[in-house]
Amino acid sequence: MSTVIEDVIARKVFNSRGEETIEVDVITNSGFGRASAPAGKSRGKAEVVYFPPGGVDEAIKKVEELIAPELVGLNADFQEEIDRTLHEIDSTKDFRVLGGNTAFAVSLANAEAAANSYGIPLFQYLGGYAARELPYPLGNVISGGSHVGGRAPDIQEFLVLPAGAESFSEAAEANIRVHRKVGEFLKRKDKLFNFGKSDEGAWTANITNLEALEILARACEEVSNEVNFNCSLGIDLAASTLWNGKTKKYVYQREGKELDSGEQLEFVRQIVEKYHLAYVEDPFHEEDYESFAELTRKLKGCLVCGDDLFVSNNERLIHGAKMRAGNAIIIKVNQVGTLTDAVETIEAAKRAGYIPVISHRSGDTCDWHIAHLAVAFKCPIIKAGVVEGARIAKINELIRVEEFLGDRAKMAELPIV
Ligand code: PGA
Ligand code: ZN
Repeated sequence: MSTVIEDVIARKVFNSRGEETIEVDVITNSGFGRASAPAGKSRGKAEVVYFPPGGVDEAIKKVEELIAPELVGLNADFQEEIDRTLHEIDSTKDFRVLGGNTAFAVSLANAEAAANSYGIPLFQYLGGYAARELPYPLGNVISGGSHVGGRAPDIQEFLVLPAGAESFSEAAEANIRVHRKVGEFLKRKDKLFNFGKSDEGAWTANITNLEALEILARACEEVSNEVNFNCSLGIDLAASTLWNGKTKKYVYQREGKELDSGEQLEFVRQIVEKYHLAYVEDPFHEEDYESFAELTRKLKGCLVCGDDLFVSNNERLIHGAKMRAGNAIIIKVNQVGTLTDAVETIEAAKRAGYIPVISHRSGDTCDWHIAHLAVAFKCPIIKAGVVEGARIAKINELIRVEEFLGDRAKMAELPIV
């Protein structure tokens, strides 16, 4: 067995939105790893740059000419060295030379190649014997905002979190039941609803925010009764996409209303209480740490999660944690580039008492690595959609991990604070 890297190969593939992306193979003396990069649509301003100016073609060239010559001969199990080398070759803070997605694909393919060389699953290679906790799947059921082209709610995502499930497969099935039921309710409400879905496989319907919440709440209640455990609601407002920096208002186009920061806080607080939300993501725009902190103080029993706010970035998290802005953080590895960067943020989050929520992107591939990262690094929640191929790839991988762990498998602790 040897983890010495023999070759690094890059190619152009497509994500679930049909956009070009990069896939990388890392080949060692006795193993192989492959990873492809996802892409977001409602991106945080502080995210790394996905690709160099020449796009995926230039990224592939960079792998061939700059990255592969440096990595060949190194040991794939020296992940930090591999990731440091990527930073050194790039030399910019936001990966604009190589592309953050190029770094992502190399970094993840490398981790898998190391695991594969040892003949063990990725989650065990990264997390060791003690890695045996399955995350709760947080899934998008109704889409709105920038994820939908036509008339839809202004809030970007209406989510389900099967917080009472005792196994991952039960949790995944409950989410699917909720998704299916919501589809039926939407059809009953609007004969013109034609079961259209967004990139993430969530329903797209001509309804308001409150109608979406009502329908989801009813579906969650019915499914909770059927499966005998609690399925809670969540939302992602992706509020940076609603924010008008000039007028300093959140613009709810569909509802024809504009809210200042105080009114936004009150609006979110009211719906959290009325619908017993367990999870609220990006309720304010990406620079408003203060409002995040205020809302976190005011809510009980609900996770307040920063996505565009933190962009998986250690420094931004540390800044936010000082003022207790939120109590959970979205981890999207391609917001920062490498696995090592993401792990640093996950560890910092745990030290600060924040819940790390590992997440897909709206444009994703059938790459399943985040499923293993959730188990390896004990992230109690994985946000990966409910249905649609790229989402199901992650869900099904966790079903396999649960099976692999057998009696040792247990659900993560889900501290809803
Ligand atoms: P994305 O958004 O389109 O940037 O992946 C998903 C999210 O906001 O959580
Ligand atoms: Zn988000």
